[in-house]
Amino acid sequence: MESIKLHDLTFRTMIEAKEIEAAVSRVAQKINEDFRDVESPIVLGVLNGSFIFLSDLVRKFEFRCELCFVKLSSYSGQESTGKMRELLGLGKSIKGRNVIIVEDIVDTGNSIKYMLNEMKRAEVASVKVCTLFFKPEAYQGDAAIDYVAMNIGNEFIVGYGLDYNEYGRELKDIYVVDGE
Ligand code: IMP
Ligand code: MG
Repeated sequence: MESIKLHDLTFRTMIEAKEIEAAVSRVAQKINEDFRDVESPIVLGVLNGSFIFLSDLVRKFEFRCELCFVKLSSYSGQESTGKMRELLGLGKSIKGRNVIIVEDIVDTGNSIKYMLNEMKRAEVASVKVCTLFFKPEAYQGDAAIDYVAMNIGNEFIVGYGLDYNEYGRELKDIYVVDGE
């Protein structure tokens, strides 16, 4: 077990890269089955956290798709502030399109609720949500999360795109905060 320090906190290994890869493959396979015959899907990545997951995920897709990104921010430190800020928007119409939103992690569900509302406003034809991690105990939303690679408890994790105040995104494994 490896221990690392990011800012003021210590983290220890929780999920190894190999296990993440297997989970990404499983979720990609499900999406492949569902999207085989869907017309012109748009894969919409929510930055920054989803960038590594999304890049591994789309390379396992067996259908043609278009990539788009939005950038949201609601987290400060280990807490979701609940106030969504859109730092980078879509910049084009996605009206009538079939969208797969790709998130790094669904925690309270505030971000995904915001995104789903935006999709309604954008008048998309359909929308599915895919997330690498889901915290069922923290989730307060009522929308279904269609594709979940891994469920985790109510703990704070970093690595594979996820950060603690912008640190730790480059780590290959997932680390969990180790006491305080
Ligand atoms: P929500 O809006 O509360 O569902 O939080 C979603 C966003 O908060 C994610 O896209 C992440 O950027 C961030 N987040 C939530 N939990 C964690 C965590 O355990 N580690 C790092 N970031 C997290
Ligand atoms: Mg995020």
